[in-house]
Amino acid sequence: MNHKQNYQWQKMTMGTCYYPEHWNKELWPQDLDRMLEAGITVIRIAEFAWNKVEPEEGVFTFDFFDEFLDLCSKKEMKVIFGTPTATPPAWLTEKYPEVLNARKDGVLYRHGGRRHYNYNSPIYQKLSARIVEKEAEHYGKHPAIVGWQIDNELNCETCEFYSESDSEAFRVFLQKKYGTLEKLNEAWGTIFWNQTYTDWEQIYVPRTVLNEGINPHQHLDYYRFISDSMLRYCKMQAEIIRKYKKPEDFVTTNGMFWNVDNHRMEKDCLDVYTYDSYPSFAFGLDRNLETADDLNDRKWTMHLNEVRSICPHFGIMEQQSGANGWTTRMEGPAPRPGQLTLWAMQSVAQGADYISFFRWRTCTVGTEIYWHGILDYDNRDNRKIAEVRDFYKKLKTLDPVCGAKNVAAFALVKDYDNEWDIEVDAWHQRVWKASEKEIFVASELNHTPYDVIYLQEDSEVEDLAAYPVIFYPHPTLMSEERAALLKSYVDRGGALIIGCRAGYKDMNGRCVMLPQPGLLQELTGSDVRDFTFTSPAEEPVLADFGGERIEMPLFNDIMDTLEDTKVLAVYENSYYAGKAAVTEKQTGKGRTIHFGSTFSRENVKKLLEYTGILEPFGEFIEAPETVQVVMRENGGKRYLFVLNFQAEEVECVLKKPGKLMYTGETVEGTLRLPAFGTAVYEMVEE
Ligand code: GAL
Repeated sequence: MNHKQNYQWQKMTMGTCYYPEHWNKELWPQDLDRMLEAGITVIRIAEFAWNKVEPEEGVFTFDFFDEFLDLCSKKEMKVIFGTPTATPPAWLTEKYPEVLNARKDGVLYRHGGRRHYNYNSPIYQKLSARIVEKEAEHYGKHPAIVGWQIDNELNCETCEFYSESDSEAFRVFLQKKYGTLEKLNEAWGTIFWNQTYTDWEQIYVPRTVLNEGINPHQHLDYYRFISDSMLRYCKMQAEIIRKYKKPEDFVTTNGMFWNVDNHRMEKDCLDVYTYDSYPSFAFGLDRNLETADDLNDRKWTMHLNEVRSICPHFGIMEQQSGANGWTTRMEGPAPRPGQLTLWAMQSVAQGADYISFFRWRTCTVGTEIYWHGILDYDNRDNRKIAEVRDFYKKLKTLDPVCGAKNVAAFALVKDYDNEWDIEVDAWHQRVWKASEKEIFVASELNHTPYDVIYLQEDSEVEDLAAYPVIFYPHPTLMSEERAALLKSYVDRGGALIIGCRAGYKDMNGRCVMLPQPGLLQELTGSDVRDFTFTSPAEEPVLADFGGERIEMPLFNDIMDTLEDTKVLAVYENSYYAGKAAVTEKQTGKGRTIHFGSTFSRENVKKLLEYTGILEPFGEFIEAPETVQVVMRENGGKRYLFVLNFQAEEVECVLKKPGKLMYTGETVEGTLRLPAFGTAVYEMVEE
């Protein structure tokens, strides 16, 4: 049975993550009082505490959380209860080592870390089902509980699984998908390098091979298989919880991680999706700083856009409140004064109606003594708790924004097949990574926000038709169904923009013997006669787009045009100077633009201009590039979020009167936002 999302917060809510098992019981009541006094009304607990409930195999003790939950009821604190399966107890992994996940070379991940189990071990499935059932049965009706979190960060730490149970389950998955070895051999192109399989037992999840030269078609199915395995495990827990939980309580889990179809997870298992947001990863202290490009922490909006596509009104289960790192790694420095609020407002601006700070107090033991919480080890009031209190005051003024929809100018289209192909194909990865980042940067700098749409089996043209323009940057894998869906979008009047490298593979990742862009050619009217990565030995490639010079970076489709197709731009240099670089074809009421390279912030701006969707909030505000501008809309009311990611004061101009939600005051004209400052205006109807 498919489960449909049915939970939405009714007012803006603030929470934190708390670990009663980490602290002396005497601290519990004062902690809860201090939280409530700061505005925290919900806590997430228990997600690693398997031993507190099942200290020995088959022995269940409920007193610990009974006592804590009763105290919560007394104090009127609400609780999200986490199932503990991210950290199996030592008694379990010692007795049943087959539950452990393994490295690709077969070495097992031993007890002591977390997420070291595999989803396909029948024993782990059984023991997980039992602990979840015991907890849900015992605590399910507790009045303090308002929601359940499944496991913790499914597919975090690692999203690859190489245990023996995984190989066994992979064979079952493939038998179901292909039926015969003949079909599998064909789909995987096993004729290459003599890989032909003559018995199912010869097939494994990917193993160590020389130079990582693994079969890409096998790999693609492997990622689909991991997603499937995780979803089955998650669904098993969700169904157990649903038997016992109160009807009004929600089921969630905290993402967002790789190699899983998060959209199916939301649909099949959850009532609401939650995300863990740590923007200061962008300032990683022991990383290659090249990864921290100009947008730094603002880049978390890119992830939040994606979360919104999974679940429009989501929550943040873990919102960064302090410096982060483990004893083994260094991440970002402490949030600067104002940054804690800025990052939390970044989440609210993108659609979060619940903000839960990680964590109440920094742990004094273990690997995470540097993953700082609101309070520090000394437990005294500090600037962070003062900021949390202040954030709460602001958040409460945003109750009318709760449930409001984000306003997007265009959609960025993705799909999981291409996403997983990117993992196995370095050529595909190079163009996609460049384009994804640059489309985001262009959207941010030009205040032209987008929504993300994942094409799914049940996607309909209506999902796309809500947007006048869609970018589907490099749909390398293409199916007839998807090509038909895009065609109906265009027929109905949409503008579809694709980049280079479209349509040259089938859904198994095999290259098709068709002129590129393959199945999309009918729509694009373009014909790729030659193609190449741009050469580092040559000047950057440019094209003439209606008299204006634009960049054609990284990879170039060199095109002819079919009938009724316009050439919008021609290459200016390299051996293909004079050839078509960008084409446009009208179909039905709409059009398709084939942009023959990867996207850059500069060429995307040109395309946003060309399609007439640049700066949709321009009538309301004039803001510098360094400021983020986002709109949420509720029942005709428009709320403009203005967020300053810079360490200096900035100036914007509000062109129409807006009520500053934090104070109720109506303002217009020049306004100043302090370093890391935020403001939310309700645009006054004239
Ligand atoms: C999150 C996780 C938390 C905490 C934090 C620091 O990914 O859910 O439990 O571990 O990271 O690693």
